[in-house]
Amino acid sequence: MTSIEAERRSSDDRAGAPATAAPPSGAASGASSSGARAASALERDPGMPASTWRLRTDAWEYLRFAVKRIALGSDTAEGLAGDGEILRSLRALETIELYWGGFGQRYVRAIRELLIGGEYQLALDRIGRVVGRLRSSSVPEEPRDEQLDDAERAELQDDADPRPRFEVLVVDETTEADRDALAAEALKMRSPADAFIYDFVVVPSAEDAIAAVLTNPKILACVVRPGFSDRTRQPLSRDLIDTIALAKQASGGTPASTRSQLASVQRVLGLADALAELRPELDLYLVAGAHIEELAGVLTRRFRRVFRREDQLELHLTLLRRVSHLYDTPFFSAIQDHARRPVGVFHALPIARGGSVVNSKWIRDLADFYGLNLLLAETSATSGGLDSLLAPTGAIKKAQDLAARAFGAKHTYFVTNGTSTANKIVHQALVGPGDVVLVDRNCHKSHHHAMMLTGGRPAYLDAYPLNDYAFYGAVPLSRIKQMLLDYRAAGRLDEVRMVTLTNCTFDGIVYDPERVMAECLAIKPDLVFLWDEAWFAFAAFHPVTRRRTAMASAQNLEARLKTAAHAQAYREQQQRLFTADGTPAPDEAWLAERLIPSPEARIRVYATHSTHKTLTALRQGSMIHVYDQDWVREAEEPFHEAFMTHTSTSPNYQILASLDLGRRQVELEGFELVQRQLDLATSLAQAIARHPLLRRTYRVLTAAELIPAQHRASARPMPLRDGVATMWRAWAADEFVIDPSRITVEITRTGVDGDTFKHEYLMNRYGIQVNKTSRNTVLFMTNIGTTRSAIAYLIEVLVKLAERFEEEQAQLDPELAPAPEQEMPPLPDFSRFADDYASTAGLPDGDIRAAFFLGQKRGTIEHVTFSELRERVARGEEPVSGGFVTPYPPGFPVLVPGQIITAEVLDFMAVLDTREIHGYDPKRGYRILKHS
Ligand SMILES: Cc1ncc(COP(=O)(O)O)c(C=O)c1O
Repeated sequence: MTSIEAERRSSDDRAGAPATAAPPSGAASGASSSGARAASALERDPGMPASTWRLRTDAWEYLRFAVKRIALGSDTAEGLAGDGEILRSLRALETIELYWGGFGQRYVRAIRELLIGGEYQLALDRIGRVVGRLRSSSVPEEPRDEQLDDAERAELQDDADPRPRFEVLVVDETTEADRDALAAEALKMRSPADAFIYDFVVVPSAEDAIAAVLTNPKILACVVRPGFSDRTRQPLSRDLIDTIALAKQASGGTPASTRSQLASVQRVLGLADALAELRPELDLYLVAGAHIEELAGVLTRRFRRVFRREDQLELHLTLLRRVSHLYDTPFFSAIQDHARRPVGVFHALPIARGGSVVNSKWIRDLADFYGLNLLLAETSATSGGLDSLLAPTGAIKKAQDLAARAFGAKHTYFVTNGTSTANKIVHQALVGPGDVVLVDRNCHKSHHHAMMLTGGRPAYLDAYPLNDYAFYGAVPLSRIKQMLLDYRAAGRLDEVRMVTLTNCTFDGIVYDPERVMAECLAIKPDLVFLWDEAWFAFAAFHPVTRRRTAMASAQNLEARLKTAAHAQAYREQQQRLFTADGTPAPDEAWLAERLIPSPEARIRVYATHSTHKTLTALRQGSMIHVYDQDWVREAEEPFHEAFMTHTSTSPNYQILASLDLGRRQVELEGFELVQRQLDLATSLAQAIARHPLLRRTYRVLTAAELIPAQHRASARPMPLRDGVATMWRAWAADEFVIDPSRITVEITRTGVDGDTFKHEYLMNRYGIQVNKTSRNTVLFMTNIGTTRSAIAYLIEVLVKLAERFEEEQAQLDPELAPAPEQEMPPLPDFSRFADDYASTAGLPDGDIRAAFFLGQKRGTIEHVTFSELRERVARGEEPVSGGFVTPYPPGFPVLVPGQIITAEVLDFMAVLDTREIHGYDPKRGYRILKHS
């Protein structure tokens, strides 16, 4: 018996497993020991949910490679029998393909049969079809038409269909004949007029349904029929099994099935909740027979619609209509319509319709390079199908509403001048002169500028420093709580208006916004939160990262505050935190407890996204997302005023159109792209950790280095490396986690500093662009556009550079001692505001605006050089900064107006390796406020 035949037997055993619910792993009761062995070998085969996409492609590509060799005669059939990789690929694919449309488990089994029967060419054709589809090329390799039957010919035609394709999950126990009938019916209904086509993925159980939506991002809708069973019969990886359990738990757990009507409704709801928890963008439909009218009443909370089985056509049309709603890009369509209309321009904007360009002798290359459409789409019109960003009622309004749906916001606003402007709009809308804002000192400069504009008084929070790597982490929650308690003790809590934090930080440190907001609201129940998610827009499209976005946190917190369990827990905690006469317990008690907010607390949450940084949008394309329970009463009007203040009356339409398209993309393929982005970064980190030379030269910094142990309960250094379930647990439990798509690499052993490594080595020699470095680190980021080839190229370059560095170091003359490394001073915390601008003793807020405007007047400032400043500080003077001094990157000010300049600040500035420092003129020096 060849190993392939042996494999067939063990696999057929599995395929023929009884149709009753079985334990999820291969250790089904009564399994033979060889069956158990096979199952345990299979344990890891289907891959982790995070990397199934890679595993699937690799397995099909490998099969094609190996079988082609035999088909072409360059390998023998014996070679095939001995090739363990072929067997592993077939086994893995048999499980994986259950969760993907188009081919399915039977297709994989048929290929195995062909291989056993020696029909290599036919097997190769079939494998080629899958590979073709995976590569999005519809042309299978060397199709031999004469050998195809009608069904196969129809399938090939289907492959060649250029329309966008999605998949629809059907959850029900079915026979092979049922599945064939379903597929045939779907084909019959397909019409040339349909804009999209879809394939069904049919799975028998709730667990398979969860596995499918976790591993197959092409699924955009799910049809549940109550006949599904609960447990999977597939040999899934441990990670997938654990993730399924976590998803069930997070949605409240699926009750055990019984025959009662109520229990069956709960089963269906349990599955729907678990699916919605993972992929809220999925459309859920219920197809039921009996009692459909009553079910419709109970189940529409989760299901978009309930159908009867015979309503196939209605379901088909609904599926297509819904995807066409996701596909709809109102503003982009309006721009295209406008570009096609013959319009005369008797107004400004000579570039419109190419007027000043195409007839020019000198600047025609503008149109050649960017294409005429750019110019045809340039207009200052706000009517004729277009809309005004300042007072949107049409296409822009619709596009913004769709973005709110996609990002889980109540309202979304497009911003065409980056998050720099988005932040200023939110500050101005919510903060007035004298209001205290708790703000991370390492927030982007726009927040500091906003405070100067609004007259808000910043109370700076210090993040924990990472002195070894010369950057900051994030602000521990205990510090934020302590500061709020300090304001309460001083009787000034009512002045504290807003908390502003950066999530995630430039270096990828991620807060738990739900926890931060809950605990802060427990001290001050009407606080407003501004989460600067400039770097985190992508996070809304992955089930694990989504929970730590501001919008999802607001939604979860709102739901939590409404529960009876929360009210009960709140009452109990209040008794511990206050004595009978209403005196608060000592601060230690408030810091030690995980504070529970009052059920009456207000959820007022704002998030700003540099959409262009992590999703598809032209530069500057940004969004503001709002989840504010007091929007209409407290915020709407001031927000619109602020929006008017900061928004250009000539907003760039191409940016707006790109935001509209970026939204379409994430609704249709966001999960797929983000899953890939996270997985590719993990594969890069693993490649560095495993390669002997890379390991010697570079070190990937993990949570163990970037987050102090007391802030990460899970103690996992790289959770995603261990699987999605581990990541899920860490992201649920730890105060801070690391965004896995950011890889900070420590490069001390290369012998060059971060800046040189970035510019001279990565960019100049190899054209690799990275954004941020510190003295001894380089930050590599993957994004939704990163490809496997790009990662492979980066690894190749890192290897070449490592070889070079090793060689250079080997050449060094041991007699000549290397220059001593300059000690990096610790990162300076915010010193304090000078007395003229500070407030109550012991509280940190200051009048940044007064200091700023003094700093603008020639008579009230002097320019002082660095060395002179050092001398003054050494003499015990306390010079006061008259302006912002902001190294870029990272883009937060080391000095703000009114701040005392200390020796620590100067030490830090002396060794700073950033090339661009805003607000500092190396020739004239620092702007210092003269004493009044
Ligand atoms: C945390 C943070 N917020 C805001 C911004 C500004 O965003 P934009 O470049 O879109 O104006 C940046 C830019 O780097 C940033 O890092």
